[in-house]
Amino acid sequence: QHIRIIGVPIDLGQARRGVNMGPDAIRYANLAESLSRLGYQVEDKGNLHIPVRDTVEESQLSGEIARASVACYERAREAVTDGVLPIFLGGDHTIAIGSIGGVTHEKPCGVVWIDAHADFNTPATSPSGNVHGMSLATLLGEGHDELVNCGRKGPKIGPKDVVLVGIRDLDPLEREHLTRSGITAFTMRDIDEMGMSFVARETVAQLSHHGRIHVSLDMDSLDPPGAPGVGTPVPGGLTYREAHLLMEILADSNLLSSMDIVEINPIVDTSNQTAILAVKLAVSLFGKRIL
Ligand code: ARG
Ligand code: MN
Ligand code: MN
Ligand code: MN
Repeated sequence: QHIRIIGVPIDLGQARRGVNMGPDAIRYANLAESLSRLGYQVEDKGNLHIPVRDTVEESQLSGEIARASVACYERAREAVTDGVLPIFLGGDHTIAIGSIGGVTHEKPCGVVWIDAHADFNTPATSPSGNVHGMSLATLLGEGHDELVNCGRKGPKIGPKDVVLVGIRDLDPLEREHLTRSGITAFTMRDIDEMGMSFVARETVAQLSHHGRIHVSLDMDSLDPPGAPGVGTPVPGGLTYREAHLLMEILADSNLLSSMDIVEINPIVDTSNQTAILAVKLAVSLFGKRIL
């Protein structure tokens, strides 16, 4: 199996500086070497060219995010055509608009969205206006027009194609929007009550008919003490063990076909530990077993 790393150093979808350095933080944490050791052929395509935040007017943000998303979409589409397994390194969670858009160019896939948030705001429901909080809604066809129509016109996935895991922080109108959507969401309460083993197996069961799963890993899904390097930390997140178990069960499905690692901000991190953790989780997702 061949893995292709694609860096998307974008910080235009949120207000805190530094998340554009995520791709290098993850590279410094030895992503490529760690995956090679598992027996994969790993190719690093470097970073997409994204404009520097300081050079972009507020009014141009969604336009620039759309340009970046189209570039990301094309890389994702190309990876599927080439038969390689792409890993997209964010950057903020807006990269999923292009990555998931592109991998579904020919046919749909299942999406596991691992996040403290649902990223299900629209321009009408978002209190912050930050586009990273709208990525999933955009993929389902609601949001800024140029983002909804990124790569190809209209929705990229339907509500039954995605399962949320780890959510615990929703804005009031976002919450109503999510409830109405019909999306399966496993909240932290669900994980506490039913356990990650059940939640992970149920997630796979709901998505397996696609024959292919994209994992979108927002590192703020983890509990902040173990993953402090994120812009929007929320208490009460996944433990190290829960997150690893989720990765291991997803690996056992043999359905993994693409991945995002997003929202790592090295400026607010300590000794790159959030990127180091992300690499360990990726290694579990790509099949490392204890025995
Ligand atoms: N719900 C908040 C907002 O829309 C936070 C979103 C955080 N999203 C993320 N990808 N970290 O602004
Ligand atoms: Mn997110
Ligand atoms: Mn999040
Ligand atoms: Mn937002």
